[in-house]
Amino acid sequence: MAAAGALLTAAALIAAPAAYAQDAAAEAPAAAAAGDPDKGKRVFNRCKSCHTVEEGGPNRVGPNLYGVVGAEFGSKDFKYSANLLELKAEGRVWDEATLDAYLKKPKDVIPKGTMSFAGLAKDTDRANVIAYLASFGGAAAE
Ligand code: HEC
Repeated sequence: MAAAGALLTAAALIAAPAAYAQDAAAEAPAAAAAGDPDKGKRVFNRCKSCHTVEEGGPNRVGPNLYGVVGAEFGSKDFKYSANLLELKAEGRVWDEATLDAYLKKPKDVIPKGTMSFAGLAKDTDRANVIAYLASFGGAAAE
């Protein structure tokens, strides 16, 4: 009986971490797709000269970015380019795919836009900075 008890204990010890690992695995794909907001905070250092992201933060060279993920183009009280406003009139929205394309190469999304930024070449940098933006308001934060 003592041996059976020991076996059970051993089985429980093995089963517990396995169950934990399964939970972690179930959550991992979503987290990976959404990027890491903590790492994105560092990437955002490259945007900071032109953008704030806090709620009610000021516009700089570019508009405040609070709640931008999922928002329509040009939702802030800011002097946007005519090209951005044309796209806004077409109903364009900053979903993650559009943000990803814009942050990779701004001119691909807004050819005559005024964001003079070379772009983030690394996929992970873009995913991480989008996750960081999403943690400041917007549909993705809810
Ligand atoms: C040199 C200044 C500058 C830098 C650096 C910069 N931006 Fe911008 N950004 C702008 C300007 C100016 C606009 C407005 C573009 C327009 O009207 O065509 C803009 C627009 C945007 C928009 C659209 C906002 C809206 O309300 O529609 C997003 C999103 C954005 N930038 C994200 C970023 C991110 C993220 C980074 C860093 C990876 C970054 N920008 C770096 C100047 C900059």
